[in-house]
Amino acid sequence: MDGNGRWAKKHFFKRIIGHKYGIHALRNVVKECSHLGVNILTVYAFSEENWDRPAFEVESLMKLMKEYLIKEREKLHKENIKILSIGNTQKLPHEVQGELKKSIELTKNNTKMIFILALSYSGRSEIVQATKTIVRNIQNNKLHMDDITEATFAHYLETKDLPDPDLFIRTSGELRISNFLLWQIAYSELYITKALWPDFTIEELHKAIEAFGKRERRFGKVLEDRYHNKDTNLC
Ligand code: FPP
Repeated sequence: MDGNGRWAKKHFFKRIIGHKYGIHALRNVVKECSHLGVNILTVYAFSEENWDRPAFEVESLMKLMKEYLIKEREKLHKENIKILSIGNTQKLPHEVQGELKKSIELTKNNTKMIFILALSYSGRSEIVQATKTIVRNIQNNKLHMDDITEATFAHYLETKDLPDPDLFIRTSGELRISNFLLWQIAYSELYITKALWPDFTIEELHKAIEAFGKRERRFGKVLEDRYHNKDTNLC
């Protein structure tokens, strides 16, 4: 959800106002994804690296997160949406952790859509943590080296039991992954739009999904019809 700061600057507002409008965009996107039948939506709300922002901005974002959870969880619950989180959430202020726990608990049996908040999240850190647990399990004879496959490794990530994302959307035009779901997006389709996050409307979401629908997903393979098409240049 990138571009809140630039959006604020463009409209002569303070950065935090950009984040507030960002929440408005988030609310609409969550609702529309659920209506469209998206099974899982993960949003990158706060990265590990974001802790290094000026204290005022971090504090304001934490306050917004707390307010968002208090305000939205009942609505999300009514929409049958299940809230989860990934990331080093133990670093969040206690009151945010508390509201997050309450939101997860309230919505734990919901089935319409899984909505994952990546908070204090870092893809590299997730991979390091998984590696540490694997090594510990090998040392304790709970796991054998030969048992480590891609599937076993994925089981040690926070997203275990969840499928990899089909579509990765980045707003604000930056051509970067920025440490998000590094393992999981190996074969995700990337969609990058110049729209700043607060301007990412339902129409923008539809455009992204439409573009995704036109992609040919090969997962590193060659599609069957390519073998039979004489005109295809296989070089
Ligand atoms: C990146 O924009 C955005 C963030 C670091 C925070 C995203 C947060 C929200 C959308 C609202 C809070 C979320 C929840 C779940 C309550 P930026 O600040 O890096 O923008 P810039 O690159 O234009 O400066």
